[in-house]
Amino acid sequence: MALDNIKELCGENYFVFGTNTKKFKTYVVGVGGEGIVYRISDSLVAKVPYYQHEIKKLHHERRMGLELSLAGVAVPRQKGIVEVDIPSSSRSLALVMEFIEGQKLTRIKNRKIMETAIKSMEEEIAKARDYFFIPKDYGRHNSIFVANENQTYLIDFSDWRRAQT
Ligand SMILES: Nc1ncnc2c1ncn2[C@@H]1O[C@H](COP(=O)(O)OP(=O)(O)OP(=O)(O)O)[C@@H](O)[C@H]1O
Ligand SMILES: [Mg+2]
Repeated sequence: MALDNIKELCGENYFVFGTNTKKFKTYVVGVGGEGIVYRISDSLVAKVPYYQHEIKKLHHERRMGLELSLAGVAVPRQKGIVEVDIPSSSRSLALVMEFIEGQKLTRIKNRKIMETAIKSMEEEIAKARDYFFIPKDYGRHNSIFVANENQTYLIDFSDWRRAQT
């Protein structure tokens, strides 16, 4: 997918790194072990891997995300793998997905909220297992709680597998 398609994905409110800097703010919403997650519009983020040769992993994550969505597990809606411009770098392929506006479980301070968030996380993990997913590297660091929905969303499926059924 070319850069122009980002406009289609994000509508008028899109952000392409290195352009439109006056109109839109770049947000780095997360720095992970495998890449940087940028906010590219009101509702979307782009996960840009550190190593572009790891594109296969990104495709795997996208596939897992799609399958988890179909199974009814709470995960960010996937948009696609697109080419983006990143600051002081060349074009790069990124996984574009829904921005989950919430709190990472590792950051929740309130005990009651934490209990609710963990229960919801465990329900989503159990649901995934029911559908023969094999979760890896999951837990509070890869879960985001959305308070007004009372719902935890799982993120980061690059190491997940699905059992052959
Ligand atoms: N869809 C999303 N909505 C909101 N924030 C997100 C989203 N995806 C990722 N993030 C943020 O970006 C961080 C890094 O994302 P992610 O865990 O997918 O990357 P990673 O490089 O695979 O991380 P890890 O260090 O766990 O291997 C997350 O911890 C989270 O804070
Ligand atoms: Mg992670």
